Amino acid sequence: MTASQVEGFRTIAAVLRAAGRAAIEAENAPDKRKRLRSFSLAEAAQLLATPTAAVRRAAARLHHDAQSASRTRLTFAEMQALRPMLHGAKSHRRPDRGEELSVVAFTNFKGGSAKTTGSVHCAQYLALQGYRVLLVDLDSQGSATAQFGLDPSSEIDVRTSFAAWTDAQEAGRPLDARSLCQRTYWPGIHLVPAGAPLAAAEDSLSRRAVGAPGPVLPFDELAAFLQTVEENYDIAVVDTRPDVNMLMTAALHAATGIVVPTRATMTDLASTGEFFAHLASYMSSVEEALGRPLPIRFARILVSAYDPADRSQDALLALLRDRFGPTVLPAPFLHSRVMGTAGFGKETIYEYEPSTDRTAYTRVLTSVNAVNAAILRDIEEAWGRTPGRVSTTKGSMP
Ligand SMILES: Nc1ncnc2c1ncn2[C@@H]1O[C@H](COP(=O)(O)OP(=O)(O)OP(=O)(O)O)[C@@H](O)[C@H]1O
Ligand SMILES: [Mg+2]
Repeated sequence: MTASQVEGFRTIAAVLRAAGRAAIEAENAPDKRKRLRSFSLAEAAQLLATPTAAVRRAAARLHHDAQSASRTRLTFAEMQALRPMLHGAKSHRRPDRGEELSVVAFTNFKGGSAKTTGSVHCAQYLALQGYRVLLVDLDSQGSATAQFGLDPSSEIDVRTSFAAWTDAQEAGRPLDARSLCQRTYWPGIHLVPAGAPLAAAEDSLSRRAVGAPGPVLPFDELAAFLQTVEENYDIAVVDTRPDVNMLMTAALHAATGIVVPTRATMTDLASTGEFFAHLASYMSSVEEALGRPLPIRFARILVSAYDPADRSQDALLALLRDRFGPTVLPAPFLHSRVMGTAGFGKETIYEYEPSTDRTAYTRVLTSVNAVNAAILRDIEEAWGRTPGRVSTTKGSMP
């Protein structure tokens, strides 16, 4: 490669990084911080599973203010304050009930299958349901990180990503894991961000996999990290990179549930099939080698960016349901113009403010809520909350 080619590649990187930064700055205007919008009473009613009139009355009581009966928008904090008023004071948070931290990993070999979109929307839904969520970005592309308004190319280094943990573990240095869990503009969500420097974690785990592993097996490092911060969260959501790698494997070792997003096309499904083949052989070899199974209690296929008007997608979804039954989440995540528009760190369905396209928006929002409600049911079932708890292998493998 010539010096001028190298220079050309550097220029491409610099221009695209600057464009990414500019997009994030524009989306974070006016004060360079993303902020969370308020929610209409109808949205709050859907999220709180309560009629709109009851939400309106509770909001008036919350503010001891007759005028607020005409209030039409609620903040995130107000919605959380309304929850016990509407559903009873009993906490639904996990430590109060002695339940284990739930760890849901979004993973598939296939790139662009909506792992990041699925994990970010899931984290936001769970936060809206009043849970304390830690979103762990284990993809050095940093897409989930960008979604939360941080620039993965300039704001993340080895010290601020999961690589800080693997570095410290490899060097035998103590590290307070809490320092890696950053607040976000979503009150219920903390983020372990990622960017290119996360590659150091991949390298560190690989070195330990072939050399002296240390007191914790390298594949158990995410589980070890989460264990030290678990009292602060109810649910950890993990976004992973496409393909098999050390960090993705560490996510499998920590996960109590996995969600496998796929588009309803033959190429995506072929790749998803290979992913399940990998899971099956990996899980059985781990059990043989370690004498214990991975802690995965549920696994679901999430059909993403689904267009019901496309007959081939419709046919493939029907086939998936027919063959794999409840392993396929009951609702697909509908294709949405909001997600498809260009932008870096762009708005999610929960952040987007619909204006002229309210009907289309509501249709997509309903699909996203149904997807996430089904994942939450799996989480709660794994906690043993629903009567008649089913076996831990339900829905695990097609
Ligand atoms: N429901 C949807 N409607 C429209 N576009 C979508 C939808 N879900 C995802 N997309 C778009 O598809 C692209 C890939 O999605 P996403 O980044 O979530 O996939 P991924 O699996 O995380 O990708 P990677 O393998 O690179 O990490 C993004 O541009 C995203 O905006
Ligand atoms: Mg991604």
